[in-house]
Amino acid sequence: MRTTFLTFGYKEIQTPTFEHVELFTEKSGQGIIDELYTFADKGGRNLTLRPELTAPVIRFYVNQLQMEPKPLKLFYFGNCFRYDRPQKGRYREFWQAGCELIGTKTPEGQAELIALAYTLLKDVGVEKMQGALGNLTVVRALFNHFNLTQEQQQEILPLIDKQAFDELQSTLENMGLPDEQTSKLLTLLQTTDISLLEQALQKDKEALEQLSTTKKILELLSSSFGITSFTLNMSIVRGLDYYKDMVFEIEAPALGAEKQLCGGGMYDLVKLFGGTSLPTAGFAIGFDRTVLTLETEKYHFPTCPTHVYVIPIEEEMIPPALQLTQQLRQEGFFTDVDLVRRGVGKALKYANTQHIPICILLGPDEQKNNTVCLRDMNTGKQTTIPQQHIIKELKQHLKHQ
Ligand code: HAM
Repeated sequence: MRTTFLTFGYKEIQTPTFEHVELFTEKSGQGIIDELYTFADKGGRNLTLRPELTAPVIRFYVNQLQMEPKPLKLFYFGNCFRYDRPQKGRYREFWQAGCELIGTKTPEGQAELIALAYTLLKDVGVEKMQGALGNLTVVRALFNHFNLTQEQQQEILPLIDKQAFDELQSTLENMGLPDEQTSKLLTLLQTTDISLLEQALQKDKEALEQLSTTKKILELLSSSFGITSFTLNMSIVRGLDYYKDMVFEIEAPALGAEKQLCGGGMYDLVKLFGGTSLPTAGFAIGFDRTVLTLETEKYHFPTCPTHVYVIPIEEEMIPPALQLTQQLRQEGFFTDVDLVRRGVGKALKYANTQHIPICILLGPDEQKNNTVCLRDMNTGKQTTIPQQHIIKELKQHLKHQ
C-alpha cells in the first residue's frame, strides 16, 4: 500500500496517537464523545485517543503546512480507537491506511483520489469490490425538494446511512410525506440513473453542477483509470458529519455484515481549525478489514522466511559464525544464527521447522581451509564450498527455491 501511495505522488505523514478532545468535538458536537476514548492527563487536559486521522492531519496542515505548494498529497497509516461494541470486523482499536488531498476539487482530482483507493485494494490482492459514489449536496437538495425540515433530515440520515430503507419508508410516512412522494424519494436515493436525479432537481443549480461533476468523475474513472466497478448511489451519506459534496465508499461482499472497506469524500475542516479555506478530500481504508477480506477470499499471504541459518559446530566457531552471519545480512540475505548452542542435529531440525531452505555449517576444518559446509535442506545434500563463493552459491540455491 505504501508503494501505491508513493506511485500516486503522495507523501507519508504521522500524527500523535492522542489529541485534544475538542479537535473531534468541534465539528461533530458533544455527541461524538460516547464514541471516544477520552481521558484527563496529569495536567488536567482533556485528551482522547484518535478515532480517525482526518482531523489530526488537517490540524497539522493548518499549523505547519499551509505555505506548501498545492495540491498537497498526504498519506498515513495509523491505529484508531472507537468506543464501540466490538464484533467481527469492528474493533475498539483498528488500523487505517488513508490519505488527504488538499487544495483541489477538480473532477480529475476527485477521480484520481477514488482511483487510488481502488488501486490500493486491488494491488494488495482484494478480488471482489463494489464502489459507490454519492453526493451530499444532491441528497440535501432532494430533501429540500420533498420539503423535509432540517430536523426531519437529521432523523432520516442515519437510516439512509444504514441503508435501512424499510424503516426509512415508515419514518417518512409517519412524518406525513404522501406515499407517492415517499416512493419517489426512495427511488431517487437508490437509482443508478443520473438523468432521473437531473430531472427531479432541474431547478437547483448547485445540485445540477454537482451531478455534472459526478458524471465526469464516473466517466474519468472508467475511461482514464479503467475502473468500472463504481456506481452512482445517493444513499451514501457517510457517518462523520464533516463531509460535503462528493462522498464514496468501497465494499467487499466477502465481509458480510461489516463490509465497508473504505470511505471518504470531500469535507470542510480547514476553516474550522483556523486556516484559510480551500477544498479538501480524502479517504481511509480499514486495514484490518482488508486483511479479513483477503483471508475470506483465500488469498495466499506471502511469507518472508529466513533464507539462511548459520550453525557453529563448536564453541570456538561462534565468533566467525557471527561474523559470517553479519556479512550475509549486509549482502541482503535474511540470515539467522544459532544462539542457543543446540548442537548440529537439533539445529538442523530447528531450521527444518522454520522452513529455512539453507543451512551453513561452520566447523574447525572448514575454518582452517577457508570453506563452509552448505546444506540444502530440501535435498539434504551437503557441499563444501570456498568462503569467497558463498554469496554466489547462496544466490544460485535461492533462485531454485
Ligand atoms: P470511516 O468510514 O469512519 O472514515 O472509516 C474508514 C474505514 O475504517 C471504514 O470504511 C472501515 O473499513 C474502517 N473502520 C472504521 N471503524 C472501524 C472499526 N471499529 N473496526 C475496524 N475497522 C473500522 C474515516 O475515518 C474518515 N476519516 C475517512 C476520510 C479520510 N475521509 C476523508 N479523509
